[in-house]
Amino acid sequence: MREAIFLVGFMGSGKSTLGKELADKLGWRFYDLDEQIEKEKGQSISELFTHFGETHFREIESASLRHFEEEKEPFVLATGGGTPCFHGNMHWMKEQGKVVFLDIPLTVLLARLKGSEAVRPLLKNIDPHHLTRELALLLEKRRPIYLESAWIVGPNEANADEVIHMLNS
Ligand code: S3P
Repeated sequence: MREAIFLVGFMGSGKSTLGKELADKLGWRFYDLDEQIEKEKGQSISELFTHFGETHFREIESASLRHFEEEKEPFVLATGGGTPCFHGNMHWMKEQGKVVFLDIPLTVLLARLKGSEAVRPLLKNIDPHHLTRELALLLEKRRPIYLESAWIVGPNEANADEVIHMLNS
């Protein structure tokens, strides 16, 4: 199998931070799917949601993800929180490389997500009073898909050394 690691997990689970650390230690390239989309389209994720709506965003996201089939160098990709849940993306990633789920408890996610509405369009439309309930529901819906990942990393193992050890054993 080619050398590719896909990090999946809910918004705020730390995919980009861990991804950069992993890529650094392995000497591989690091990509962030949201950043790739923004570069390709010349618009921020928030603007894309506003201009095209979520359904079209998911098509753009899936197309950007599939461009990684062309990447010849080993890489680590931090995906968006919804990436594995649409257009057969989880299945595709599992065919392409190692999919690692960052399984972080909701309480931790909530604390990290506070105040990030401007860059996270899904949060913008949620009444702050219902944030906990709405995010709990979304996580409950997505978790079974995240759990299809071949590797699952809890909060205590969410560092590059642990993940590299896990992937090699
Ligand atoms: C989304 C997560 C975001 C981004 C978009 C949608 C989601 O990425 O792709 O706002 O559906 O959970 P992060 O997980 O990096 O915040």
